[in-house]
Amino acid sequence: MATLFKDVYIQDGSRAKAERVHLLVSKGRIEQIIDASQTPPAADKIVSGRGHMAVIPGFVNAHTHAAMALLRGLGEETALMEWLQTRIWPVEDKLTPDYIYWGTLSAMLEMLASGTTCFADMYFEMERVAEAVLGAGMKAALCRGITAGEPGKIERSLQNNLDLAKNYHGREGLITVQLGPHAPYTVPMNYMKLITDSAKTHGLGVHFHFLETQGELGNLGMSAEDYLNESGLLNTPYTVLAHAVYLDPAITLPDSVSLVHNPCSNLKLGSGVMPLTEWLDKGANVALGTDGASSNNRLDMWEEMRTAALLHKGVKRDPVIVSALDVLRMATYEGARAFGFSQKGMIREGWFADLVLVNLDRPHYIGVNEENLAMYLVYAGSSADVAGTMINGRWIYRNGEYPTLDAEEIVSKAREARKAIIN
Ligand code: NI
Repeated sequence: MATLFKDVYIQDGSRAKAERVHLLVSKGRIEQIIDASQTPPAADKIVSGRGHMAVIPGFVNAHTHAAMALLRGLGEETALMEWLQTRIWPVEDKLTPDYIYWGTLSAMLEMLASGTTCFADMYFEMERVAEAVLGAGMKAALCRGITAGEPGKIERSLQNNLDLAKNYHGREGLITVQLGPHAPYTVPMNYMKLITDSAKTHGLGVHFHFLETQGELGNLGMSAEDYLNESGLLNTPYTVLAHAVYLDPAITLPDSVSLVHNPCSNLKLGSGVMPLTEWLDKGANVALGTDGASSNNRLDMWEEMRTAALLHKGVKRDPVIVSALDVLRMATYEGARAFGFSQKGMIREGWFADLVLVNLDRPHYIGVNEENLAMYLVYAGSSADVAGTMINGRWIYRNGEYPTLDAEEIVSKAREARKAIIN
């Protein structure tokens, strides 16, 4: 089935200006983009933009813990280590596979309604997360969070993560799987080496929390550069380092390494501000993510884009740095690329039709044009403008409805799960 977006603006992180076009989607991909002055191609379904709709790439939330939507609001306004140890970890012990399934789905409802087409998730019971993702027709990069504990725990978690990869990596073109050592403070160095070796052997990427807080840097027992070298993280097929607030941008990272900036979560936990400007100046791969809903508390990539663009201007007292295009590219293409999704994150012929339909027929878009659309989206826009979210050419969210999900059941089951883990 072909869908025509008739007379819409298109904008992505690689275009200095928007264009007004007809965009045809067929067989899950963007088949044709032609100027809006030309005769539109035929299609089964037509979305008529009349110059008041924009099509942008679907967001890739490059670091989250979706099921933590069930833990939203716990331990508000505490520092990371205290928050984890006293409020989060004890409650996580009560999570069952079912609770994680419904919690993940409830997070997916939020993400889809705000234009996210793919999320990078680190948690446990990931088979249930994969089931939720495949059922919805969403995309996700999944890893099992691996932490030390009783003897044999890390080995079992790693095996579980490898089984996840065997069963789900590449499934239906919707899922990629990474190995997920949690952080330097939860995985000893000898195990980091074991995990990165295993990533190499199996051709898998690694998703890792690195230097979210200043204290972690002091506790590494070596420099960050030595840690990255010794752990093998620079020699995997690819590595994604979430947060990297205290990673010194003097280090040169290989192209296989991407960073994920989580500005809202880092601000809320008082962790600090990643030196994003320096990394972008060096041409490093930097994606954007929300982190879990219990430290953000939103799963909204519009919020991350706006915060990232504003925060660094303020910190550096420079209105020119971290442009609207920079954050749009980070929120879409860079996230897809970091987690092994190709031909995703730009509006190009032949690329996957993972798209967000944005309603520009609203008061805060008065004055929008080809030159300023990216700025309007990032500085004036919000997730409330999302009229539809399409993945592989299929609507997964459209005008408040979820064609592939039972939103009412999900909210009700997630609410029950929340009650059960708090009481
Ligand atoms: Ni995290």
